[in-house]
Amino acid sequence: MNDMRIVERTVDANKAKMTARGVQVYYGATHALKDVSVDILDNTVTAFIGPSGCGKSTFLRCLNRMNDTVAIARVTGEIRLDGEDIYDKRVDPVQLRARVGMVFQKPNPFPKSIYDNVAYGPRIHGLARTKAELDQIVETSLRKAAIWNEVKDRLAAPGTGLSGGQQQRLCIARAIATSPEVLLMDEPCSALDPIATAQVEELIDELRSQFSVVIVTHSMQQAARVSQRTAFFHLGNLVEYGETGQIFTNPKDPRTESYITGRIG
Ligand SMILES: Nc1ncnc2c1ncn2[C@@H]1O[C@H](COP(=O)(O)OP(=O)(O)OP(=O)(O)O)[C@@H](O)[C@H]1O
Ligand SMILES: [Mg+2]
Repeated sequence: MNDMRIVERTVDANKAKMTARGVQVYYGATHALKDVSVDILDNTVTAFIGPSGCGKSTFLRCLNRMNDTVAIARVTGEIRLDGEDIYDKRVDPVQLRARVGMVFQKPNPFPKSIYDNVAYGPRIHGLARTKAELDQIVETSLRKAAIWNEVKDRLAAPGTGLSGGQQQRLCIARAIATSPEVLLMDEPCSALDPIATAQVEELIDELRSQFSVVIVTHSMQQAARVSQRTAFFHLGNLVEYGETGQIFTNPKDPRTESYITGRIG
């Protein structure tokens, strides 16, 4: 199989791929995220956990400037990717989002064919020289997202005609087709059955050798299974961040302990 990756990257699991310092987010008068500072490590799966409304999606969207698209959102503080300030006005958010890809909480395929959903990013970023190369990227991405067998005979059919769980795996294929350096996943398995969930978890583990992955999840079991680092959010604060094993077996903050033992949520 052709190697779809065009950029050689060295593996250094302790290197900070992204750094956030003093990040605050306001939606109008609502202070949704309060002074969040964190290092997202390279070649690591980082899980964001915490009760509904605590700011997980809000912070995830800060990491690729998706909050730019929310008119009432205001973001302050500093976020860097490989040391570069992603909020600098010279940074093109479209280019940024090719490097920091995202899978959303609700599947959102484009109103295009299954093939074109996946080929869209590689086309606009010029990642394939020939139709054969593009076909290869599409197939590899669909295989990695564990949906190839279900769609290989209907690549020209609309992506919106798939089931919810299939649409989500299509969106995962679309997100990985541009070989992002960081992949943000907001509850990627909430619409999936246990088999597809297991396949996506396997994929996440595999992606870690190439990217850094950040996953929001409501499932503690999933966080414990797939991540090496875990961040616990509560009421807009990043309460605790550390190695996943430590967070789940020996949390330092009583709020973390209450959450993981099911007393708040
Ligand atoms: N577009 C928006 N406009 C106004 N307020 C918003 C918007 N998006 C989020 N908020 C508010 O910001 C806070 C954090 O929301 P966020 O969606 O980040 O939570 P979450 O941790 O992802 O929750 P969930 O687990 O339910 O997805 C909430 O109080 C929410 O109501
Ligand atoms: Mg959310």
